[in-house]
Amino acid sequence: MKILMVCLGNICRSPLAEGIMKTKLPEDFFVDSVGTISMHEGEHPDKRAIKTAANHHIDISRQKSRPITKKDLETFDKIYCMDIDVYEDVVSKAENEEQRQKISLFLEALGDHKNAEVPDPYWGDMKDFEDVFQLLDKGCDAIKNQILS
Ligand code: 4NP
Repeated sequence: MKILMVCLGNICRSPLAEGIMKTKLPEDFFVDSVGTISMHEGEHPDKRAIKTAANHHIDISRQKSRPITKKDLETFDKIYCMDIDVYEDVVSKAENEEQRQKISLFLEALGDHKNAEVPDPYWGDMKDFEDVFQLLDKGCDAIKNQILS
């Protein structure tokens, strides 16, 4: 199974989600992340995201930002979006119902968080990055339980 995490810039939230999810799933799962904008294409994650992940013994330093492509909507089985703007952007790229069905809001997996968004820590401080890490960790646990059940 192939899992895609999506945020805006692919330098803060979705790289963290990718790194966390990879630690939770068996190796035959493929996990990747992308952004809806190409502004940071080719860049490594934000230093604060790298540091926050490292604090939890996860290395995301070699990831590189890339924008989502039409092919991603074909290739990936599950596509998790960090907020509603990102979700709407990705859904607008879907070419058929099968592709639309793959796309959901990341925090929907927590059930009681319908329409909940992972806040963008880009303009915040290290505490915001740590809070986002904790939220992503909970969400990844819930997604893991859904996928493996
Ligand atoms: P991300 O955070 O979507 O979690 O990677 C952002 C990164 C960059 C920008 C906004 C959000 N930006 O405006 O450049």
